[in-house]
Amino acid sequence: DLRGRSVLISAGGTREAIDPVRFIGNRSSGKQGYALATAAIARGADVIIVAANVNLPPPAGSTVVEVESTEELRTALVGRCASADIVIMAAAVADFRPRATALHKIKKSDESADPVIELERTPDILAELVLGRDGQSRPIIVGFAAETGDETASVREHGWAKLARKGCDLLVVNDVSDGKVFGRDENEVVILGPGQEAVEIPRTSKSHIAGARAGGC
Ligand code: CTP
Repeated sequence: DLRGRSVLISAGGTREAIDPVRFIGNRSSGKQGYALATAAIARGADVIIVAANVNLPPPAGSTVVEVESTEELRTALVGRCASADIVIMAAAVADFRPRATALHKIKKSDESADPVIELERTPDILAELVLGRDGQSRPIIVGFAAETGDETASVREHGWAKLARKGCDLLVVNDVSDGKVFGRDENEVVILGPGQEAVEIPRTSKSHIAGARAGGC
């Protein structure tokens, strides 16, 4: 049922260089994004994966564009978004990056005091892709949310707020507390969609989650 459709999927986690040796990264493995690509290909779609630091074999039939940083991910997605029918932002994108990347390795001997790394916010790619639709309903844009819940709100409440803030069509909410998601083969999610729709997918393989349906998709 996705024959002739083009699906653009971001997967993995971005890395922001501190110097030629070190980076700020995150624990995303890319497994969920690759499972989504496999499911979309099985349904007949043409799939492009923009993979940030993923160490997995590419799903058969997919095109993989490799990137490292948030800026590279952004460029790869913005350039391809307009020709996609569906965009799925499964990548864990760094929220902050060093304001400047040192050209040379920061040596312990350079400073006697502890080094201070000044951070700046990265661009919000998902929000930019949604804004770029300019009132059009295509592509369908699916966001992911990594939430832990806190004293102000539950995982799901944070999810609803994020769906409203980002303006995407569906939001796949992950509870990432206690190492339950990153690098694992299984997960459980809630898919939030239009009209307060919330579809709960109980703990199962990331492949089964990739095949779940919500919001008429
Ligand atoms: N995302 C993005 N660009 C960023 C940060 C996140 O495109 N700079 C996307 C992710 O790919 C994901 C969604 O936004 O689809 C939500 O990511 P998440 O890390 O859960 O949320 P944040 O936007 O970082 O918000 P917060 O830190 O408040 O949870």
